[in-house]
Amino acid sequence: MSKDTLSIRDNRTEKEYEIPIWEDTIRAMDLRQIKVKDGDFGMMSYDPAFLNTANTKSTVTLVDGGNGILQYRGYPIADLAENASFLEVAYLILFGELPKAGELAKWEAEIKTQMALPEALPNIMKAFPKDAHPMGAFVSNTAALGTLYPDAREVLDEELRWKHIKNLVAKSASLGAYFYRHSQGLGFVDPDEKLSYAGNFLRMMFHEGGGDYTPDPAVERAINILFILHADHEQNCGTTTMRTIGSSQADPYSAAAGAAAALYGPLHGGANEAVLRMLAEIEDVSNIPAFMDSVRSGDKRLMGFGHRVYKNYDPRAKIIKKVAEDVFKVTGRNPLLDIALELEQIALSEDYFIERKLYPNVDFYSGIIYQALGIPVSMFTVMFAIPRMVGWLAQWTEMLGDNEQKIARPRQVFLGPVDKKFVPIEER
Ligand code: ACO
Repeated sequence: MSKDTLSIRDNRTEKEYEIPIWEDTIRAMDLRQIKVKDGDFGMMSYDPAFLNTANTKSTVTLVDGGNGILQYRGYPIADLAENASFLEVAYLILFGELPKAGELAKWEAEIKTQMALPEALPNIMKAFPKDAHPMGAFVSNTAALGTLYPDAREVLDEELRWKHIKNLVAKSASLGAYFYRHSQGLGFVDPDEKLSYAGNFLRMMFHEGGGDYTPDPAVERAINILFILHADHEQNCGTTTMRTIGSSQADPYSAAAGAAAALYGPLHGGANEAVLRMLAEIEDVSNIPAFMDSVRSGDKRLMGFGHRVYKNYDPRAKIIKKVAEDVFKVTGRNPLLDIALELEQIALSEDYFIERKLYPNVDFYSGIIYQALGIPVSMFTVMFAIPRMVGWLAQWTEMLGDNEQKIARPRQVFLGPVDKKFVPIEER
């Protein structure tokens, strides 16, 4: 008869243990009873970089990397990208269900009326050098925004929690766009409640002069889709940072700043920037063979390829490739696209990449679109951070409502020296 347990025999002691299995998982704490002698700490699991450790249970986002599936709250990503607005998807991710018409109207009004930044923020931004990296500024300005709301620290008060979730979702786009204006030496542009979230982002970035701004519908749709595709991706490096900081009950602005800092790195959200720099370095299709040689020899990485979880085509990359075609009809073709298409074709047919299950990820084509829209390369990771704010906050509030969670505090396997005698400086 089958049983949902795992039998473990410790050959050091010849003792047997039976450990419950739940959702194909054993609890690491169940290993602690495995000891050689009383007084031992007990067995731990060793898992650098969390390759096989579930840090939480969650109902927000499903990523099935082997099969290339991504769903928010049960809805496949392609359906959402095709049919919904970014704020509709944000509502779904945060509240768990798609909004009814009245709920969506109320939610949109709440967010759009809060998009303008309080005066302190533009003033803080002006203190940054114009060539500061926009992600460094995004991290700092997100944390700085939190200093304006002392009640944000009351994270166990649900009503206040939602007040600040809405505020951060609303202001995320503005934090990114306002800093772009500063970096270009341009005046700030306030949001306009008549526009969509994506349209407002474009207005705050690119509006010249006063009066109304009407975004190009294809460009607005592209930003809307790109924001949806980046809204959440379960327990990645940035989100785990959000949960880890949040587990100490720090305010959500500080936790989101930390999550954004994690996203900044070139192996994570910084990859879209790294892809563009790589394509620019390759410069011409004729240089691809030499570049691929350096990838095969391990000197270089093909940025925008590979993923810790997807060992199949990233479903977001497929959607983005299609968006790229629509955008190029408006902006003209980005010449880097030819290099990207050729790299993709080689990588998908070569043993080195096939054996390692390396497929294009979400970042491979997004940068080419952003560049065509006139967004500077250094802003690309900000384009990722703006919508990811939604996922960070959904995961953060889920964590605070989970009574199994405590302050995050991994263990270590200590291999250093012990009990050394202090040596006075003149004797060393
Ligand atoms: N180009 C060339 N080789 C690669 C690449 C790549 N992009 N990615 C992985 N490999 C190779 C590694 O060299 C390694 O080869 P080996 O077994 O011969 O040593 C093997 O594939 C496994 O690689 P790991 O680094 O162990 O895989 P891991 O799961 O740790 O890394 C990561 C995943 C960080 C995304 C990696 O694939 C990478 O660096 N990709 C490029 C950066 C990138 O595009 N990041 C964006 C990820 S998506 C996101 O964060 C939104």
